[in-house]
Amino acid sequence: MVSKLHNTTKKVLVTGGAGFIGSHLTEFLTRSGSHVVVVDDMSTGSLSNLTAVDSGKLTIVDATVAAAISTLDPHEFNAIYHLAAAVGVRLVIDEPIGTIETNVLETSAILNFASVAALPILIASTSEVYGKSEKQPFAENDDVVYGCTRYSRWSYACSKAIDEYLALGHYRNSNLPVRIIRFFNTVGPRQVGHYGMVLPRFVRAALHGQAIEVYGDGKQSRCFCDVRDVVAALPKVMNEPSCAGQVFNLGNDKSISISDLAEFVCRTLGCDVPIRLIPYDQAYGPGFDDLRRRQPDLRAIQTAIGFEAAIPLEQTIRDIAEHMQRTGDDTKDSKTRQIAEHRR
Ligand SMILES: NC(=O)c1ccc[n+]([C@@H]2O[C@H](COP(=O)([O-])OP(=O)(O)OC[C@H]3O[C@@H](n4cnc5c(N)ncnc54)[C@H](O)[C@@H]3O)[C@@H](O)[C@H]2O)c1
Repeated sequence: MVSKLHNTTKKVLVTGGAGFIGSHLTEFLTRSGSHVVVVDDMSTGSLSNLTAVDSGKLTIVDATVAAAISTLDPHEFNAIYHLAAAVGVRLVIDEPIGTIETNVLETSAILNFASVAALPILIASTSEVYGKSEKQPFAENDDVVYGCTRYSRWSYACSKAIDEYLALGHYRNSNLPVRIIRFFNTVGPRQVGHYGMVLPRFVRAALHGQAIEVYGDGKQSRCFCDVRDVVAALPKVMNEPSCAGQVFNLGNDKSISISDLAEFVCRTLGCDVPIRLIPYDQAYGPGFDDLRRRQPDLRAIQTAIGFEAAIPLEQTIRDIAEHMQRTGDDTKDSKTRQIAEHRR
């Protein structure tokens, strides 16, 4: 525990608030006047992600969600954003049990905590829940299609789908005002490439003059949305009463192939590095199952809060590069060093 809670004003709880999206959300909420309590076990997050946040408006609880909420009173909060999760293809494949347990048990615990005070709660889900459905773009009420259980990548999708079932169960049984957000590929400064996130990996390689490794044939496509567009939308979803009990896609619907993304990174940063195709088996081990396209249908969130992604990908790439150059390496090892330094 880094500091004690003040008992005077109501606060917003952000789990996973030292992570990539969570730290940008915490920054946004504190700038808008909220006092934010961040609960994060620093497994993939870092205190250094929160250095830009006004410390007078921030309380950090360095613990798992279940451990932290046993010390907190739900009546002290106005709302909860639950972003803590095991995230990233590499991590999910390397730690299948931890992924499922973190994503399901911690979500169950925070939903029970929210229920005690009937707190509005936003649950971070993912476009992965659609699985490998070939219907595009993905709309919230579409069927989900998963690969066989031997392919552990689908355990992330299933664990997040269970989170959605749990949240919707609380909404139906006790009218708990839950909101579920299915994030599509969210990108920006502070995202780390170590766990399989594609854009920081590409930017880092380009900056280091190394070959950019594109997994598969590179023709698979994704849509990338800047994290600052994404976090600005979350309080709007939280504050709009008609969003209770609803599931929303959130992201950008402009598609780009991964090979084109690699070239775009090189062009944007003025780097001339080779682009190398790496078979999935080599990148992730045998039996890796991927999907060719992933594009959100954004009509529901546009209708609910008027969401439009505004920051161009080129700007995001420049900002990621600037952040990497300013803070050094983007690997977890360096993050661990930064945390240790911050705590000293
Ligand atoms: N980044 C994306 O493109 C993307 C896409 C889809 C969904 N999401 C979802 O958004 C949320 C945030 O993802 P992110 O990209 O910021 O990842 P991240 O890894 O940067 O953030 C997750 C945070 O949760 C923390 N955490 C993990 N387990 C915890 C536990 N048991 N208790 C407390 N804290 C714990 C980590 O330390 C980290 O700070 C996740 O729920 C993720 O599933 C992200």
